Amino acid sequence: MNKQVLITGSSGQISSELIPELTARGYSIIATDVKLPKTEFEYEVFEILDVRQKKEMERLVSKYDISLIIHNASILSAKGEQDPSLALDVNFEGTRNVLEVARDAEVEKVFSPSSIAAFGPETPKENTPNDVITRPKTIYGISKVFTELLGEYFWGKYQLDFRCLRYPGIITPNSIPSGGTTDWAIEMFFEALNNGNYRCFVNKDTQLPMMSMRDCVRGTLEFLEVDSKKLTHRTYNVTGISFTPAELYNEIKTHLPSLKIEYLPDYRQQIADTWPKSIDDNFARRDWGWQNSDDLKSITKWMIDSLKSK
Ligand SMILES: NC(=O)c1ccc[n+]([C@@H]2O[C@H](COP(=O)([O-])OP(=O)(O)OC[C@H]3O[C@@H](n4cnc5c(N)ncnc54)[C@H](O)[C@@H]3O)[C@@H](O)[C@H]2O)c1
Repeated sequence: MNKQVLITGSSGQISSELIPELTARGYSIIATDVKLPKTEFEYEVFEILDVRQKKEMERLVSKYDISLIIHNASILSAKGEQDPSLALDVNFEGTRNVLEVARDAEVEKVFSPSSIAAFGPETPKENTPNDVITRPKTIYGISKVFTELLGEYFWGKYQLDFRCLRYPGIITPNSIPSGGTTDWAIEMFFEALNNGNYRCFVNKDTQLPMMSMRDCVRGTLEFLEVDSKKLTHRTYNVTGISFTPAELYNEIKTHLPSLKIEYLPDYRQQIADTWPKSIDDNFARRDWGWQNSDDLKSITKWMIDSLKSK
């Protein structure tokens, strides 16, 4: 396989941290988004691509002889509830276009992340298994189930090597989050250092699964590169550590004792209430060796040290 990779949503939170690691491993990156990268020279090749524009996607895949598409463009959970019609267009049409273009251009592999948002209120909330009922109630969650199922359909019918990870909330010091329901786990650090107080938009006991960005990037690269024969699934649960806002607050206070917090739940509480509290990722551990390295203590120290040094 050549190492030409087209990434959609390249200006987003996860792509911005995945791309430098891919480059370091010898991949050539064709970064694409509707939004320009932070700096003009961030990527060697950047192209404007709206994932709803199939013809343009076809043109770029052919022009750069792409062998891997990483499809990260998406409207996230909270933003999706504010504009379901936009989420329908971008998340459903975008995924369909990526899979069809990949199939027709004989792209070897497609990676597209799913999320814990794929689960719903009927899903068991503790140690949520990999293969379990998924009946999400948000448009974002529905789009993630669509991505999983359509990708698996293309794998079964056309042998397109589709791979998908259900990410939990991803925590990073390097960008401000953009419309997700786990944003509080990042915002609390930024506000702790900037203002010394935080207004949390979910209740203090809302436990959700999370992962550090450095675990997310490493795990994604390992999953991308593992021999297809080792995979018993095309969609895997992965997780790091589950915690509540109150637990995160207490941990941050061991570094910044004067931090104050107020709990003012808004519409995102309802979204969080339908998501799992903890995830069983044993299939990923068994099949391709997934393991997280960060826990709540190490994430907190890493976040505070990184933000202080900026
Ligand atoms: N960050 C998380 O905590 C998290 C958790 C679970 C799953 N995920 C998934 O990971 C992927 C990347 O998430 P992220 O956090 O980097 O999101 P993000 O919102 O930071 O980035 C998404 C990018 O998509 C771009 N985009 C939006 N509409 C577009 C369109 N029509 N065409 C092309 N690009 C468009 C945006 O400009 C943005 O740069 C998404 O599929 C998301 O659902 C993220």
